[in-house]
Amino acid sequence: MGCKKQNSMKRIFLIGFMGSGKTTVGKLLAQKLEFSFIDLDQYIENRLLKNISTLFTEGGEDSFRAIEHKLLLEVAQIDNVVVSTGGGTACFHNNMEIMNEAGISIYLKISHQILQNRLQKAKEFRPLIKDKTDQELFAFILEALQKREKYYQQASLIVSNNEPEEDAENSCNKIIKALKTPA
Ligand code: S3P
Repeated sequence: MGCKKQNSMKRIFLIGFMGSGKTTVGKLLAQKLEFSFIDLDQYIENRLLKNISTLFTEGGEDSFRAIEHKLLLEVAQIDNVVVSTGGGTACFHNNMEIMNEAGISIYLKISHQILQNRLQKAKEFRPLIKDKTDQELFAFILEALQKREKYYQQASLIVSNNEPEEDAENSCNKIIKALKTPA
């Protein structure tokens, strides 16, 4: 599981579905690499002084994706940074290309079942799922993953974690090991 792009280590973008642990792993990874950490959703909220749910409600998804794209371009110029992206970031505009040109993208690949368990408890601030029943959530994850997987698969590195008890520390160590291993 080596990484093809060790030389572009100035920026690391974590991608993957909602609930895959991008923010938790990203914070820890940044700490270990002595990089700064940016959560793209948080960055958007701070810049626009509006939360993600409000942005979806006011402008709809297309408008949110345009804002997300613009601010991704901005963070892609910051050096020595770990960026945790939103679950959809990789799948709109040419965002995968931007991330892969600016640095290394890492897909945190998590099983449908683990995502379901985590997201059932964490729907409130996620506009795409907040009103869904458990059954609707199950169908949504399945369908969205099918559509999104082809974008996520364009990552420089894919780290799978299918142990419910596996923590961010383990995922982080896997990433650091892969980054150090020649492809
Ligand atoms: C989204 C995921 C969210 C956020 C927005 C849309 C998505 O981020 O960007 O609600 O399309 O999957 P997280 O993956 O951090 O929940």
